[in-house]
Amino acid sequence: MIEYNEKSRVFNITNGSISYMIYLNSEGILETIYFGKAIAPLTDVSALRKSNEWHDSSFTYDNVNKTEYKYSDGFKNNSAPLEIGSHGKYDKRHAPIVIKQANGSYETDFRYDSFVIYKCIKPLTELPHVRKGNFETIEFICKEKESNVYLHLYISIDLDKDIIIKSFKIENKEKNNIKILRAESLQLDLPSDKYDLIHFHGRWQNERNCVEEPLIDGIKEISSNYGRSSHEENPLVIIKEKETNNEYGVAIGLNLIYSGNFKFRAHVTSYKQTHITYGMNDEDFEWELKSGECFETPQAVISYSYNGIEKVSQNFHSFILYNLLSEKNKLPKRIPFNSWEGCFFDFDTKTVTDYIDDGAKIGTELFVLDDGWFGKRNLDNAGLGDWVVNKEKIDLHKIINHCKSKGIAFGIWFEPEMINYDSDLYRSHPEFVLSNADNKTISCIRHQFHLDFSNADVIENIYNQMKAFLDEYEIDYIKWDCNRIICEHYSNKYPSEKQGEIYHRVILGYYKLLSRICDEYPNILIEGCASGGGRFDLGTLFYTPQIWASDESDPAVRMEINYNTSIGYPLSTIGAHVNASPITNYKTKAILALFGTYGYEMNPNKLTKEEIDSLSEIADVYHKYHKSVIEEGTLYHLLDPNKSNWMAMQSVSIDKSVSLCVCMNRKKEWDRYRFLKLKGLKKDSKYLNSYDNTIQTGEYLMNIGINMSNEWCNEFDCRLIIITEQK
Ligand code: DGJ
Repeated sequence: MIEYNEKSRVFNITNGSISYMIYLNSEGILETIYFGKAIAPLTDVSALRKSNEWHDSSFTYDNVNKTEYKYSDGFKNNSAPLEIGSHGKYDKRHAPIVIKQANGSYETDFRYDSFVIYKCIKPLTELPHVRKGNFETIEFICKEKESNVYLHLYISIDLDKDIIIKSFKIENKEKNNIKILRAESLQLDLPSDKYDLIHFHGRWQNERNCVEEPLIDGIKEISSNYGRSSHEENPLVIIKEKETNNEYGVAIGLNLIYSGNFKFRAHVTSYKQTHITYGMNDEDFEWELKSGECFETPQAVISYSYNGIEKVSQNFHSFILYNLLSEKNKLPKRIPFNSWEGCFFDFDTKTVTDYIDDGAKIGTELFVLDDGWFGKRNLDNAGLGDWVVNKEKIDLHKIINHCKSKGIAFGIWFEPEMINYDSDLYRSHPEFVLSNADNKTISCIRHQFHLDFSNADVIENIYNQMKAFLDEYEIDYIKWDCNRIICEHYSNKYPSEKQGEIYHRVILGYYKLLSRICDEYPNILIEGCASGGGRFDLGTLFYTPQIWASDESDPAVRMEINYNTSIGYPLSTIGAHVNASPITNYKTKAILALFGTYGYEMNPNKLTKEEIDSLSEIADVYHKYHKSVIEEGTLYHLLDPNKSNWMAMQSVSIDKSVSLCVCMNRKKEWDRYRFLKLKGLKKDSKYLNSYDNTIQTGEYLMNIGINMSNEWCNEFDCRLIIITEQK
C-alpha cells in the first residue's frame, strides 16, 4: 500500500512487512525518513530529522532580496538522507542524476512537483524490466529548479515479498537539447556508518568470489567498465549491519536489471552516514537528450531483510523466478550435452553423430553443437560474423536428423555480437566494428572485434543471418556467447557529440537483437554466456532463463562459484555441466551440476562403465526431483565455503516433502563431531535421509542434524543427501 499524509507530509510505501517512508520538506526536497521493518506511518518527523546544528555554517544567499537565509524547516542541505541529491550545490555527495544545461551549467537540483500512485509496476520501453507481479508504484515528478527538465522517480513495492524497485526517467521539456552526464537508478541514504559490504569479485574461470569487507570512511566503488556486467564484478551487492549473519539481522541486497557498465558507490560521509548510489556507470557516458525526449534508467532491485542474508537471497530468487523471467523461450526439462569441452573445434559429421550416440547412454536429451560449425571456423581466429554452416566440415541436416530420430532435441552456438577480422563479414563491412576515431590500431581479443551494436544496420545484418539459419534448421536451443569485452568504443555511425552514448547504445542493441530472436522463436530455449559467466546479470536473465556460469566446471573451484552465484540468483538459472576435468570424480561433478541446470560436456566415448553408472544414477535424481526441488524449491545456504572447509546447500520443495542437500569439503576433515543441521522442513513430519538411512523428525534434523562424524572426509569428498517425508 502506498499513501500520502498531507498533514505530516509523509509518503508511506509498505507491504505490511517493510516500510519505506519519504518526507516532503518545505523546500520540495524528498527526504528518506525510514527504511526498515514495517512500522505505523510516522506522523511527526521533527524529532527524527534533528541533527547537530552547531557546525553547520551554511546559508543560502538570496541575490534578489539581498538576504541570507537558512532552509525553512531545518533541512540539512549537505547531510539529510535524500531520494535525489543535487549536483553543483553545497551538497557534495554523489548525485544520482547529473545534467548539463544548454547554457553550460552543471547545476542539477530537482524539486518535487507532484506524484501519481499506480496499482502496478510500469514497464520500461527499451530496457529489460520487471515483467509482472503484485506491485504498487509511486511516481514522483520533480522539476529542475532553474530549467524545464523533469525527473520522474519511480518506486515500486512488491506486496508479496520484500522487494523494492527504483528507477528514474529524465524528461527534457526545455526548448534546447541538454546533456545527461550521469543517469544512475537510485540513491539510498542509510542512517549510520556501521555496515559491511558483500560483493562478488572475479575473473575468467573464477567468477563471483564472495568478498565481505567493512565500509569505512570514504568511498568504495564496485563497478564495471568492460562494456558488459563482467567477470570482474557482478552487479549483485549486499550491505549488511555489522552483526547480521545468514539468519539474523538487517541486510539489503541490490542488483540492476542491466547488462552493461554499472557503478555501485558507497560513501561513508564525514557525518557518519552511508550514501549509496547505484546504476549505469558514468565513465565515458554523455547522452544528448533532445528537446521533448525522455531517457529511462535501468531498474534497480532492492531486496530487504531483517532476518539475515538468506532472506535477501530468497527474495531475489523468488523475484527472478516469478517477476523477471519470461514464460517463453523455455523447453520441457531435458538433459543437455554440449560438444565444446569434448572436441572443441575439431569435429566432422561422424564425430558429432558418435557423440550423440554415446551421449544417449548417459541420458542426453538435448544435444548442443558449440563453437566451430560455421564460416571458416576451425580455430578461434576466423569465421565469427559468417553465420552459415561450414558444409565442408559438417552436414548439419544429417546431424539434426540423427538427433531427432533418437528423440533428442538439437541446439546450436552463436556469438552474435562478434566478428573475426578473418571473415567475409569483416572483409565486406570493416566499418561494422567498434573501433577508434582513426581506426589504425584496435584491441584484438581472441582474434576478434566487437561489432558496433549501436548501429542498426549491423543488428539487421546479424539478425537476417540468424533468421535464415533458424528458418532452415530445426533448432531447439541457442547458446548465446560473447567472448570479449569492449575496449575502444568509437562508433563511426555517430557524430562526435554522440560518442558518449555508445556503451549504452551497444547494450540497447544487444537487447534489441535478443528480444527479436526471443519473440520470433518463442520455443527456442536461449542460454546466455560470456566466456563463462562474464554477463551473469538480471538484464540477460530477462530474456534467457539460464546463463552458463563459468568455464570452470570442476567442483574444486565451481562449488564456490555456484554457491556464491546462488546468493543472488536461483539455482535454475546457473548453467552447470559435468565435464572431464581431472580433480574430482564424475559423481562429485554430477552432484554439483545437479545444483544448477545439469548437463554434460566431455568426450562421452571415453567414459568408463562406472562413470556411466554414476552419471545415470544422478540423471535419475535429476528426473525425479530437479523440477520440484531445485528449480521451484527454496534454497538454504547451510555451510559457507568462503568461511570454512565445507560447502553445503539444501533445497526444499514448496510442499516441504522432499529436499536435496549437497555437502562437500575442500580438504581432509579432522573435526571429530560434525552434525549437518538442515532447514526448511516440517517440524513434526518424519523424514528419511539417504545419508545414514535413518528416520527423524524435521525438528530433530533442523536442531540436531545428521551426524556425519563417523566418516573420514577426504579432500573434495562430496555427498548428495535426499531427504524424503515419510507419511
Ligand atoms: C566460451 C564459452 O564459455 C564456452 O563454453 C564455449 O562456448 C566457448 N566460448 C566457445 O568458443
